[in-house]
Amino acid sequence: MQIIIVKDYATMSELAAQIIADTIKANPHCTLGLATGSSPIGTYQNLVKAVENKEISFKDVKTYNLDEYCGISQSHPQSYYYFMHDNLFNHVDIDENNVHIPSVSSTNLEEDCKKYNDMLNSTTIDLQLLGIGGNGHIGFNEPGTPFNQETFIVKLTEKTRQDNKRFFNSIDEVPTHAITMGISNIMKAKKILMLISGKNKADTVVRLLKEEVDPEFPASILHKHPDVTVIIDQDAYSKM
Ligand code: F6R
Repeated sequence: MQIIIVKDYATMSELAAQIIADTIKANPHCTLGLATGSSPIGTYQNLVKAVENKEISFKDVKTYNLDEYCGISQSHPQSYYYFMHDNLFNHVDIDENNVHIPSVSSTNLEEDCKKYNDMLNSTTIDLQLLGIGGNGHIGFNEPGTPFNQETFIVKLTEKTRQDNKRFFNSIDEVPTHAITMGISNIMKAKKILMLISGKNKADTVVRLLKEEVDPEFPASILHKHPDVTVIIDQDAYSKM
């Protein structure tokens, strides 16, 4: 695991975008695994700038998102479909056919899950972007999720629902379930890039860097991946 400490969120976002842009330049047909949440927003803004400046193009890039909430429509401002279009896809030259986000629209969520998992198993993600939950979750793989888990319907923990409440009008509106890539899908990516920023992640960073590999802290499995880069800003690193 390569750890890079940077000054702040802006620097983290510039560096992450540079790493992703380099991946696209090296292989314009690459496949990216993407995340939502506050951690990658600045990275996406820098990637949009890089497209505007004609440094990179998403024309032949394929993307697979980590997860999607169940029970809200794609047009809901808090759906991850909406988030990805609002923050990245609407502002770059990506072909919508190359965008993959778990579908939760059918009445058969099990079938949606299987379809997404089959898609993931028939591709190779060159670079997977990740944030980390306060409890160590990656995607929506909450503590206790087996490391060999594939794409599944997850019941969100109260902690995660409370963490995400700030994006909704009330806790009752926060979805109770999501479809997420499993840890096993995430670990198959050739390269993983994790972003950690802010004082509220300082304890999480200590656990990630000091604790043993343990399903109770899902991100700890990344120590077993051969190519992981974690960019941490000084606030998040402040308890080390
Ligand atoms: C997002 C995702 C989550 C977030 C994590 C951190 O697609 O799968 O695991 O990466 O909850 O969220 P932020 O970046 O908002 O702190």
